[in-house]
Amino acid sequence: MTHIATSLVTAGRTHEGFGSVNPPIYRASTILFDSFDGFCEGYYGRTTPAYARQGNPTVFALRDALGALIDAEHTVLTSSGLSAVTIPLLALLRQGDHVLVADAVYGPTRAMCDHVLHKMGIETTYYNPMITPDDLEALIRPNTRLVFLEAPGSMTIEMQDIAGVCAVAHKHGCITMLDYTWATPLYIKPFALGVDVAIQAVTKYVAGHSDVVMGAVSARTQHFHAISKMAAMLGNYVTGDEAALALRGLRSMKVRIEQQQKNIMEVLAWLKQRPEIAEILYPPHPDDAGHSLWKKHMSGGASLCALVLNPSFTHEATRAWCDALKLFGMGFSWGGYESLIVPFRPKEVRTATAQKWESDPWCIRMHIGLEDPRDVIADLEQAFARATPFLCRK
Ligand SMILES: Cc1ncc(COP(=O)(O)O)c(C=O)c1O
Repeated sequence: MTHIATSLVTAGRTHEGFGSVNPPIYRASTILFDSFDGFCEGYYGRTTPAYARQGNPTVFALRDALGALIDAEHTVLTSSGLSAVTIPLLALLRQGDHVLVADAVYGPTRAMCDHVLHKMGIETTYYNPMITPDDLEALIRPNTRLVFLEAPGSMTIEMQDIAGVCAVAHKHGCITMLDYTWATPLYIKPFALGVDVAIQAVTKYVAGHSDVVMGAVSARTQHFHAISKMAAMLGNYVTGDEAALALRGLRSMKVRIEQQQKNIMEVLAWLKQRPEIAEILYPPHPDDAGHSLWKKHMSGGASLCALVLNPSFTHEATRAWCDALKLFGMGFSWGGYESLIVPFRPKEVRTATAQKWESDPWCIRMHIGLEDPRDVIADLEQAFARATPFLCRK
């Protein structure tokens, strides 16, 4: 068996061109056919791309590498991680269907359900991601067509029983779809766990340098045709330049993410002692409620966690702390080489798990990059000092 570090180096390499290690970067719109028969085969037979939106060899090298890493039957690259979510939902659902969606999904995934799917006559029920498969089974209706998982979830980082949920969903003929961005293609085998459609925001660790936006949808054969057709109809397109950047990121993903996992553990060990932190939400951390589920399903993961600040963190204290941080950028996305924070209040964005967030604490989503953890800790410490005058001392 080839080990994953080797696959990261070899996957998707076709040795095409003049012997360069990497595939050439194709820039194309028109693709010329060399004969009438070639035209008929490409256009009517769809055996080769007939137009650039369907891909080019640089894009296919990345697509094949990503698919191979998770043992996918088929993969299509999409113009963003979000379109990797929306394309399969549009392809696989129809009017009158019901969909079960984890309460902690990525915000725009929720917006897609609440606005676009709702308008199409598709109803969404949000479920607590930490629910047992038996409790999830009770939510399945005769018209439930798809169960959407994201593990761990966005912002509040809840782990899910992926295999258990998939087994129950399949018992009732539902399609299972997983956003596995946090686990990356390194630390999970979605199809072995029963997932039917697995999506990855390539934007994050695969590209890894905060300079690419892209997604990947992998699916079993019975669902893939509808997905690739929908991608084509919606005008999905990935450039050769961006595919080359993501491919370059992919080759070094393991060393980056392993270092980032070490860094976050060091930072969290320090934060655990701090009175300002009420709870650390990070499944690889032994205190996390999803730790054993994480160990069962994944062999690693992102350096992305959430911190629940203690109730003394008023709006002003949270502002003072965030504004005082020098090494951390404040901004969306993650998976790059740099540390980032996003302040948020879960109560605003949860329905099925609203009770847990009733006290409305300030939380911080924290991504730890490749900086020296000693500098990161020093930055956090000086920011806590700056927030102290604003703490509420009731
Ligand atoms: C879990 C998850 N899925 C999907 C996406 C969407 O990816 P993109 O930003 O490439 O559209 C994100 C982006 O933050 C995400 O965190």
